[in-house]
Amino acid sequence: MRVRRPLTADFGAEVEDVDLTQPLSGDMVKAFADMLYRHALLLVRAPHFAPTHQAALARALGRPKDETRKEFAIPGFPMICRLGNATDAAGQPTAFFNRQGEEWHSDGAGSGDISGITMLYALDVPREGGETMYASLHAAWDTLDPATQARIRPLRTLHSFNWHNDKILRRSPGAARPLSPAERAAIPDRRYDLVQTHPITGRTLYYVSPNLVREISGLDETERDALVAQLIGHASAPERIYRHRWSPGDLLVWDNNALMHSATDVSAYVDDRRLLHRSFTVPPSRVG
Ligand SMILES: [Fe+2]
Repeated sequence: MRVRRPLTADFGAEVEDVDLTQPLSGDMVKAFADMLYRHALLLVRAPHFAPTHQAALARALGRPKDETRKEFAIPGFPMICRLGNATDAAGQPTAFFNRQGEEWHSDGAGSGDISGITMLYALDVPREGGETMYASLHAAWDTLDPATQARIRPLRTLHSFNWHNDKILRRSPGAARPLSPAERAAIPDRRYDLVQTHPITGRTLYYVSPNLVREISGLDETERDALVAQLIGHASAPERIYRHRWSPGDLLVWDNNALMHSATDVSAYVDDRRLLHRSFTVPPSRVG
């Protein structure tokens, strides 16, 4: 397994000489995890990567989490969710389709699993659009002006998945069933330090998923929204992001503590089908 090319100057690598359809050895998993934390985002061209291989890699890297939107989980693989605009012959959705478009976030921000690893595997790719964008929270911190660094260091955030999910369902009626009271209760609101030290790399970052942030300590709603917009705008400046144009068989694996990601405008591919398999796994406190 080795780097074929970097994806940006700060993060991301396309890797080669790795076959994820073969049984995973301990050495191979360690090399994969080491490379993942070094680069934060790995691209693997994996044309025959089936759900059974995705589940095996998810288990090798940590503790896979079962999908919250269970109606779109793959039968037999509760940790793998179908994402995209796929429908059945009757026009009913067979994948979770969030129409929000651009929406920077880290997976796991709402569930408390901020170190989670996401895998996204492309099956069907539209001819235009449907890209996924990535931004480094480390690079964002490192390039932030010192006055803003000092201002945000002591702040705490309240992230709320349910508050966010209610907004999605209002915006995309029918995209998914509303969560039951028990499911909602299983995802309570979470408080985090805004400025954090990555548990594995030791690098400083700021951690914020805009649409989940209900509160920032000491700020009113106007100040909260202004600060979030400033931090996200800085992190996602065009010169710092990686925009992945998917091909069928692409697997992206990323560290949600180090990166934010975002979909792009879904109206770009209304006449084309987009289908990806997503899984999320919570690593042990140290991997590799
Ligand atoms: Fe996501």
